[in-house]
Amino acid sequence: MSFVSSLPGALVLAPMTKGSNLPFRQLCVELGATVLVSEMVVARRLKQRRRSEFALIRRAPGEPCFGVQLAGNKPDEMAWAAALVEARGADFVDLNLGCPIDHFTRMGLGAALGRQVTRVRRIVEAMRAVVQVPVTVKIRLGWNASTHNYLELAQAIADGGGAALTVHGRTREARYRQPADWDAIAEVAAAVPIPVIGNGDLLFPHEAAERLAASGCTALMTARGALIKPWLFREVAEGRYWDITADERIALYRRYVELATRHWGRRPDAATAHDRADDPVTPLADAADDAPRVLDDHARERVRDFLRWHVGFWVRYAPQRPDGTWPTMQQRESAFVPRSPLEALLARHDDAAIDYITERLLDGNDLTDPPPAGETTSEPTVVAAG
Ligand SMILES: Cc1cc2nc3c(=O)[nH]c(=O)nc-3n(C[C@H](O)[C@H](O)[C@H](O)COP(=O)(O)O)c2cc1C
Repeated sequence: MSFVSSLPGALVLAPMTKGSNLPFRQLCVELGATVLVSEMVVARRLKQRRRSEFALIRRAPGEPCFGVQLAGNKPDEMAWAAALVEARGADFVDLNLGCPIDHFTRMGLGAALGRQVTRVRRIVEAMRAVVQVPVTVKIRLGWNASTHNYLELAQAIADGGGAALTVHGRTREARYRQPADWDAIAEVAAAVPIPVIGNGDLLFPHEAAERLAASGCTALMTARGALIKPWLFREVAEGRYWDITADERIALYRRYVELATRHWGRRPDAATAHDRADDPVTPLADAADDAPRVLDDHARERVRDFLRWHVGFWVRYAPQRPDGTWPTMQQRESAFVPRSPLEALLARHDDAAIDYITERLLDGNDLTDPPPAGETTSEPTVVAAG
């Protein structure tokens, strides 16, 4: 499916380091996602032929419209990387101008590059010149509240030939401390002649409908909303809230384990136990076959690590409140009264519960004897790249 025809009205799965892993994207597709973006891929690391970076540009079997997000600040290197990911099957290539992490901004990447408007335009032009697929860009509002440059940046991207623009409605300095500024997102949508994808704080389908209508955006993007409730895609596609039961949630979580096992496991007849998913030369069609997979120790650790990370988000879900009002992304729901013992377990944030849920899902066992509540030290890491 082409990017241009898929975009209007879509809820796009955001690029997320760790979060947008291939099996999670597959789960989102099964739940209705049609446009999805990879984890952030550093162009320089592709140039260095790093296997782990090549693993990130793989399209999932059956993924309808898949974009690869690149980070880099050298026009020639970014052009080379864009051509590579196009040749590997990406439907669009996205440029990262939002990554707040010091390690990257010190090298002039991500949000730091967003301060260099002329260079951004040159990079977009260089990427555009070598690929047929659309080149998109994801920006923040600016570095901090006193250096908002989103209108200037958006215009430079449109002038450089960007096919669409995602606006995450916060500055680099704000991280997640403030709600996304949807008025600023709407300003961009009104100012530039290319489609704008609005991004920030979407958690329930009515919010998506309201933001889409009020902002003038062509499409929306979700990151934490999808991590907390991957069924958000179905809700938005159907235009109604799904009061999902704890058993239904568990079925989705088990499906993630299946997909992750298929992705990181190996076929029993495979020659080596080496992690196939990191192999840059494995044909893509091979990953789609239905042969059973086994998890050796390395693969099992990999699945466990991703699963535990996802469970940290899954336990943040809270349904609509009994009085008809809605929880918000920005505040943890404290007054949530679970409707069953399983829902109570799935609302616990302590390490003992998160470990227990992870191990039970990993082994395919039931979750009927949860441990007593322990210390809460786990907060999922949301400081990452965008
Ligand atoms: C775990 C995690 C990893 C992220 N990694 C990236 C990334 O690699 N590239 C990027 O542009 N944004 C990244 N972001 C930012 C999101 O794409 C998105 O812009 C931001 O979270 C706001 O959307 P939300 O309010 O729906 O979470 C990440 C966000 C999270 C939570």
